[in-house]
Amino acid sequence: MEKRWWKESIVYQIYPRSFKDSNGDGIGDLNGITEKMDYLEKLGVNVVWLSPVYQSPNDDNGYDISDYRAIMTEFGTMEDFDRMLAAAHEHGIKIVMDLVVNHTSDEHPWFIESRKSKDNPYRDYYIWRDGKDGKEPNNWGSCFSGPAWEYDEETDMYYLHLFSKKQPDLNWDNPKVREEVFDMMNWWLEKGVDGFRMDVISLISKKPDLPDGKPGINGYASFNEPANGPHVHEYLQEMREKVLNNADTITVGECSGVTLEEAKKYARSDEKELNMVFQFEHMDVDADADNKWTDKKMDLREMKAVLTKWQKGLEDIAWNSLFWENHDQPRSVSRYADDSAKYHDVSAKMLATCIHMMQGTPYVYQGEELGMTNVPFTSIDQFRDLDSINAYRELVEEQHVFTAEEMMRYLCRKSRDNARTPFQWDDSAYAGFSTVEPWIMVNPNYKEINAKKQVDDPESVFNYYRKLIALRKEKEIIVYGTYDLLLPESEEIYMYTRTLGEEKLLVVCNFSEKEVAVEIPEEFRKGSYLIANYPEGEIKEQMTIRPYEAFVLEK
Ligand code: GLC
Ligand code: CA
Repeated sequence: MEKRWWKESIVYQIYPRSFKDSNGDGIGDLNGITEKMDYLEKLGVNVVWLSPVYQSPNDDNGYDISDYRAIMTEFGTMEDFDRMLAAAHEHGIKIVMDLVVNHTSDEHPWFIESRKSKDNPYRDYYIWRDGKDGKEPNNWGSCFSGPAWEYDEETDMYYLHLFSKKQPDLNWDNPKVREEVFDMMNWWLEKGVDGFRMDVISLISKKPDLPDGKPGINGYASFNEPANGPHVHEYLQEMREKVLNNADTITVGECSGVTLEEAKKYARSDEKELNMVFQFEHMDVDADADNKWTDKKMDLREMKAVLTKWQKGLEDIAWNSLFWENHDQPRSVSRYADDSAKYHDVSAKMLATCIHMMQGTPYVYQGEELGMTNVPFTSIDQFRDLDSINAYRELVEEQHVFTAEEMMRYLCRKSRDNARTPFQWDDSAYAGFSTVEPWIMVNPNYKEINAKKQVDDPESVFNYYRKLIALRKEKEIIVYGTYDLLLPESEEIYMYTRTLGEEKLLVVCNFSEKEVAVEIPEEFRKGSYLIANYPEGEIKEQMTIRPYEAFVLEK
């Protein structure tokens, strides 16, 4: 297998709005990130993915961009950005920009022009269609509730928006759109950024006839309907030739709706498109088909089947990205383990062990390294995320699919705002994130869970992540070893091996609060511990795995 620096990297995702506020307005900013470079270096990550920092009216917290070459006023200036980039590089950290080009903001100058008239030179930058019998052109739904079409009186036509109506979809079939995007990407590369995380890149190529899809719980087809469209690979290959080959970049495509077969095309090791993709099947094991609003618990056997399918499916062909969290997902320790005081620390370390020992490039989402948890929201007014607010309005108030009580329970489990509360730096007011009340509530557990408390405690979740990250840099087998699942039928234990030449690792993770008896394969019985989240017991044939215990044995 080809060795590559981006395979050996550990990526840390920053959601700038919630990371660190440097000027006391309650909103995180670029100077706040610059302040915290020492922290990131200490953790050991070598790439930072920044959620969008471009000029935006913030309908979707920066994922609606009105100027790709300017910094969001609330986050600072271009000089602040340049300083942040230089500081990151001085700390040995590369910077990955979030590239949001499936859509722009409706306040982007291209769209302002586009909607003016049918013969405007920018008309064809977006996807306009006539209505059908006085209704939307097809049954596609927006990811954020309601139809994916907005009627525009000016020209008596509809425009497509797979996300909010303030996020009109760009028309990638128009070569001018592609040229504009590629120029803009080259501009950022010339500035010195190191790569791109590409927002919903699997959705950019729509079938020309825009066929109806299967309706979901709110009556509309999934926003994923256009995933992996007819020209997506062609457009990404063009991007590779015109942009990505100009520098030594790291690229990851957010590919909602991606299948294994499609991922092999996006992230093939011949490097004609992207380095790796984010797939989301392991984020769906606690969801119903096309509906995430449920409090269904994940079944570990299903989780193992999904992750193993991706580990084995891409082996020697493409490259995996590894993650439990990002800014669109709830906190993993609350979701897939146990965030109660009794098991919080071991749980968080267990999840980290499980994912960081796999083959692929690991991503750590800000606060995950502290075991930050879901938030005890009590009222819909506390939410800021348009996805959560719109879903509440549609499913509770308009369609009565759920009662208010049910929906609050689902939001507390699944809302994206669980991941977006301020980073918990210390136990002072507002968790040390800001000196004033932040734009979104602080998780009340910041006095127990915060960076200050953990950085100097050798037993903390933070220092466990640090150790996992350091191990990956030391041991090639963790990056390049082959993965094989053991005990697929166990409902509690996730056990797998990694193999590289003569070397071998055994990873054992208990996803339950039960004590579980496990037989250790013979070749590891004379081995030694690489890392463990409990005091190390004697290695022997029959071992009792304690609640949420995790360890790695080296042959
Ligand atoms: C991606 C982003 C999400 C955003 C959406 C629309 O899924 O991760 O935060 O809302 O795209 O840009
Ligand atoms: Ca600020």
